[in-house]
Amino acid sequence: MTTVKERASQLLSLEEKVAMVTGAASGIGRGIILRLADLGGVTAILDIDEQKGSETAHEIRNRGGEAIFVKCDVRSAADCRTAVEAVIAKAGKIDILCNCAGIAIRKDVVELTEEEWDTALDVTLTGIYRLSHEVIPHMIRSGGGSIINIGSGWALKGGPKAAAYCAAKGGAVNLTRAMAIDYGKYNIRVNCVCPGDVDTAMLRSECAQLGEDVQAFMREAANRPLARVGTAEDVANAVLFLAGPMSTWITGAALVVDGGGLA
Ligand SMILES: NC(=O)c1ccc[n+]([C@@H]2O[C@H](COP(=O)([O-])OP(=O)(O)OC[C@H]3O[C@@H](n4cnc5c(N)ncnc54)[C@H](O)[C@@H]3O)[C@@H](O)[C@H]2O)c1
Repeated sequence: MTTVKERASQLLSLEEKVAMVTGAASGIGRGIILRLADLGGVTAILDIDEQKGSETAHEIRNRGGEAIFVKCDVRSAADCRTAVEAVIAKAGKIDILCNCAGIAIRKDVVELTEEEWDTALDVTLTGIYRLSHEVIPHMIRSGGGSIINIGSGWALKGGPKAAAYCAAKGGAVNLTRAMAIDYGKYNIRVNCVCPGDVDTAMLRSECAQLGEDVQAFMREAANRPLARVGTAEDVANAVLFLAGPMSTWITGAALVVDGGGLA
């Protein structure tokens, strides 16, 4: 007979799994890859930031996990293909893909140049397509997988001076649903996690772009039922749930993780 502890750890274990996270060198993506690595398996950090990506891989190995860093700009189809090939060469399969890379340009439609609009959508929405396009055939071959896209509260409602961001994140939620429909028959689940404000470099850059006082901005961001901004770990726990055996009949969902901000 198994013990309670063994049964509990089986429900969370990612042993034997291979997980890939984009934008995992810092912020929320880093929190996600650290959480997944803590639960076992092989982890792959994909990011444009070579230094922070290598540091994150190093930290995972120091904690006893297995990690590789692969430099990958999600705006490049060639980079995405090479990164997936590198992970397949090392680990033979990919069970979990978390598309987390994203950028936020705080401008309305009149202020946005077409180049800024294109860049925002290229990273934040088309990046999800590019990685999924490369990874899904491998998941089909190995019998299934779990894809978790990182959306935003502003995927489900609008926000001020964030036109391209809102468009990209809204697209991410509906792309999630479309992929869930197309690949359910291959045992591939596709879900979206929609975080509220988390104190990362991105949130601080948004504050700077808007020319607002940091303390007032953070106070406003914490104004929600659970009365604080989120942490990368808050979001990582939701990703872990959707990645593993606790969510085997959940697909096409948008899970809001925002301390009640949208409530
Ligand atoms: N921070 C928040 O409040 C918040 C809220 C809701 C949703 N999100 C979403 O969470 C995700 C992560 O945000 P964050 O706050 O951790 O941001 P962050 O800026 O702290 O980290 C983003 C990471 O993505 C990487 N990246 C940027 N462009 C890339 C590209 N072209 N290819 C590969 N990697 C690239 C960066 O190097 C960085 O490591 C984003 O999709 C963001 O929209 C963040």
